[in-house]
Amino acid sequence: MRDSFLPFSKPSISEAAINEVTDSMRSGWLTTGPKLKKFEQMLAEYLHVPHALCMSSATAGLQLALMALDIQKGDEVITTPMTFAASLNVIEMVGATVKLVDVERDTYNIDVTKLEAAITKNTKAIMPVHFAGLPVDLDPIYALAKKYNLAVLEDAAHAIGAEYKGKKIGSFGDLQVFSFHPNKNMTTGEGGCLSTHSDKIAEQISLLRFHGMDREAWNRFGKDGSPHYKIIYPGFKYNMMDIQAAIGIHQLPFLDEFIEKRTALAKRYLEKLKDFEYLTLPKSPDYQHKHAWHLFAPTLNDKLAKISRDELMAKLKSMNIGCSVHYEATHLYPYYANKYGFKLGDFPNAEAIGKNVISLPLFPDMTISEQDDVLDALEQIFNTSITN
Ligand SMILES: Cc1ncc(COP(=O)(O)O)c(C=O)c1O
Repeated sequence: MRDSFLPFSKPSISEAAINEVTDSMRSGWLTTGPKLKKFEQMLAEYLHVPHALCMSSATAGLQLALMALDIQKGDEVITTPMTFAASLNVIEMVGATVKLVDVERDTYNIDVTKLEAAITKNTKAIMPVHFAGLPVDLDPIYALAKKYNLAVLEDAAHAIGAEYKGKKIGSFGDLQVFSFHPNKNMTTGEGGCLSTHSDKIAEQISLLRFHGMDREAWNRFGKDGSPHYKIIYPGFKYNMMDIQAAIGIHQLPFLDEFIEKRTALAKRYLEKLKDFEYLTLPKSPDYQHKHAWHLFAPTLNDKLAKISRDELMAKLKSMNIGCSVHYEATHLYPYYANKYGFKLGDFPNAEAIGKNVISLPLFPDMTISEQDDVLDALEQIFNTSITN
């Protein structure tokens, strides 16, 4: 058994990032300022978009995106039950109605064949979620959006660095939101980013994320700045600080390398576990894509295994192997079950995944020997050999 605990996720933070944070601290300018401007420019270049706007979290970005789309009470937004609760919560936050479409059992992404039937006269937007960094099949979604005049807001919290048919997620489409939470493929501690081609949406988001003020603190407090500002709208305080951007400036240049390392580890899991009958492995679709491998999340075949997912997690943790759950089916959370009358059986694929999914350790600095510890632990728990 391992001597030390292997976390299921761990950010790779360079000395350069630590020094950049220290530089912010010593400079006396901690909050939104020049480092954020630089980070946003880097993101815009990486994503090939005119506007990359950072904020305090992806949750904040999704909420502001819905507001910028003028989505409100009476409007319906379609998303999936197999996601983090924030995807649904933001729809509630703007007073709109959550409409769910089940996911595919093997990719955990929205089942686009079921999407059209869920569109009503009240539908205003579709919010697909690129689960674990696997790009959703976007062509049919954008085609439906065009047919019914709907907006598409991609919940790309897991998907920075992913590609769909040769194009970066975030580089096309109406609106995309990424998360920089420490578990994600790159981090700013906490944080999020919204990418868009629309000057109008970018302007609205800039206002909404900082009090609805027509100028930012950096402009106000600088030597040449004016202390005066106007409130154009009662906005939020969702700005990203320079201390956070300082980390991001030294994460983004390594993002593709991080994803390469994640991909190599994920492929090795897939290869080693291909005949391991106690787990069903996630599958990739046929269309051309680059998976960002934010998570490696198979499902337990609980009937064959004769233990539950939570028992498996407890056993792995007792052997110093970290693991996690992404996610329980969101429609069964009390708030959503009570408000919408959702019940077991409504979204069978999300429920099957939610009951048995387990995220195994996966992060760029994870070694082959650490991965072998995970495989050995599974072998011991199920008393069977993992060949190859
Ligand atoms: C699919 C999805 N959407 C949105 C979010 C919210 O991201 P954040 O924690 O940056 O607010 C998360 C976070 O894990 C997520 O997984």
